[in-house]
Amino acid sequence: MALRKLVAGNWKMNGSLAALAELDAIAAAASDNLDIAICPPATLIAAAAARQPTLPIGAQDCHWNASGAHTGCLSVNMLREAGAQLVIVGHSERRTDNHETDAEVKAKATAAIAGGLIAIVCVGETEAQRDAGQAVAVVTSQLRGSVPEAGTGESLVIAYEPVWAIGTGRTPTIADVADMHAAIRKCLSELLGNEGAKVRILYGGSVKPSNAAELLHIPDVDGALVGGASLKATDFVPIIDAAK
Ligand code: 13P
Repeated sequence: MALRKLVAGNWKMNGSLAALAELDAIAAAASDNLDIAICPPATLIAAAAARQPTLPIGAQDCHWNASGAHTGCLSVNMLREAGAQLVIVGHSERRTDNHETDAEVKAKATAAIAGGLIAIVCVGETEAQRDAGQAVAVVTSQLRGSVPEAGTGESLVIAYEPVWAIGTGRTPTIADVADMHAAIRKCLSELLGNEGAKVRILYGGSVKPSNAAELLHIPDVDGALVGGASLKATDFVPIIDAAK
């Protein structure tokens, strides 16, 4: 079943009010047959949503509690009030830098969905894990630990991002991406039943204009999560166009 593709940009800790000018050309690349989104730093969500009201804006993390003594954290309602429609959870940079566990990622995704945000749950193996032949086992274990039971085709997206492919210019082979996305699809069906067939599975890690078309046409690749190449419309728009 071909799912409607989603091409999402993750600006990570990059961008500024001035950089929101990039959103004009990105919003203009919208098309009836796919979804696009940009996840800027949280400080820019409100201004981004105000600048381009038709372009879905997302956050890069959320807390699982609605409020409380969690200095520096942001709740789902706060993000929604700022204008977010999506939130990335469990990115490998947060799993590494902030020691986030599968259970925490699941709690965040569960809270996001309950609060009306689309949750993009990230998974992916390290290079050592791939070299040891454990890539599929690692990713399916992350899915079992971090996919919320409440996930549906509308509310949940999975992003497969091999850690060694992020920001390195390296990507897995087409066959390796196809094998992993098929394994993720199978696992989602085990976890979510019929709904598992409707959850979009994005590929992320060094997606750029020159490789987007071949990556986006692999079976069970339902879009892309793009880091560096989402910062400039001149790079991101060709990636969106490749998904059309
Ligand atoms: P790059 O596209 O810069 O490799 O980053 C991928 C990523 O981590 C998106 O979440």
